[in-house]
Amino acid sequence: MSTKKRKEEHIKISLTKNVQFKNKSTGFEDIDLVYNALPKLNKSEVNSKTEFFGKKFSAPLMVAAMTGGTPKAEKINQDIAKACEELSLGMGLGSQRAMIEHIELTETYKVRDVAPSIFLAGNIGVMQVQEFGVKRIYKALNEIKANALALHINAGQEAMQFEGDTDFKHALKAIKLLKKLKKPFFVKEVGCGINAETAKELQKLKIKAIDVGGSGGTSWIGIDSLRGKSDLGKEFWDFGIPTAASIILTKKNFKGKIIATGGIRSGLDCVKALVLGADLCGIALPVLKAQNKGGSKEVKKYLKKIIEEIHTAMFLLGAKNIKELKKKKFIALGNIAQWIK
Ligand SMILES: Cc1cc2nc3c(=O)[nH]c(=O)nc-3n(C[C@H](O)[C@H](O)[C@H](O)COP(=O)(O)O)c2cc1C
Repeated sequence: MSTKKRKEEHIKISLTKNVQFKNKSTGFEDIDLVYNALPKLNKSEVNSKTEFFGKKFSAPLMVAAMTGGTPKAEKINQDIAKACEELSLGMGLGSQRAMIEHIELTETYKVRDVAPSIFLAGNIGVMQVQEFGVKRIYKALNEIKANALALHINAGQEAMQFEGDTDFKHALKAIKLLKKLKKPFFVKEVGCGINAETAKELQKLKIKAIDVGGSGGTSWIGIDSLRGKSDLGKEFWDFGIPTAASIILTKKNFKGKIIATGGIRSGLDCVKALVLGADLCGIALPVLKAQNKGGSKEVKKYLKKIIEEIHTAMFLLGAKNIKELKKKKFIALGNIAQWIK
């Protein structure tokens, strides 16, 4: 099946079927933060500004990688990018494999006309690094004026695709190759999470940032099993490391920046992720749904609500800025306490 057709199916299934984890959550409900009844702050003074890879953000938030490569994707990307520009948030584009294979699809990824200043991440799979080569990937990033690359590592997802590439023997070598890329990159899971061993291996390679892409939000195993109608996918639907646990395990074993995606569904989830050790949060599926409901206006409304919740949670913890927030303590209960034992 062509990459373009696969991308169309991903959007359609994500919007029409329940593709969330079924019996497993992110674990954020097992994280308690310590409320401060006397925050010594005026809520209006709370400042959630941050920086990532040298770019400024009004809040530690980006829209995680989703799409590109189909006419529908062009409008989705434009709408999301416009909202992100207006709110000074970051954005990830979907895998650029489709535009590398079919140069005429490049337009569907271009958003700099509506979003000249935001942090913009291009995207490619680890399996494509050797196939396309570092120079071609660099060219593809420049064609869409991306600031950085998200390199997705997705053994779980590949294992569910009929056409999936499941030879991960040389994946670490491919990551090493990318160190020659003349742009910063981060390594990103897509919903099964990063464990301690992977975090250590990426630390050894001195990778600048990891997006833990933990479980509890959108199930990619679920989406690809619905495409392939495989029984394997039904069995593995909820497989993976809860996002909250994955952030803690990564923080313990990795010195670079951490992005938390996978089931971030509120500003409170985002604030919990930051207290656990993340530097930035990413949201994917709810943003796609907002875009589908009402274009850029609805995306902006949704993201503004998340920012407002971030400010409220920071106020209630007595954190005036992100630096103060990241020093706050957390209590791990239940399942997450087991994970980090
Ligand atoms: C429709 C759709 C397409 C996606 N495509 C990509 C992709 O091309 N590359 C990638 O790294 N992640 C991709 N993702 C994964 C997201 O970036 C994110 O890691 C995952 O969905 C978990 O976040 P969520 O629970 O907020 O949806 C996609 C997600 C959705 C919903």
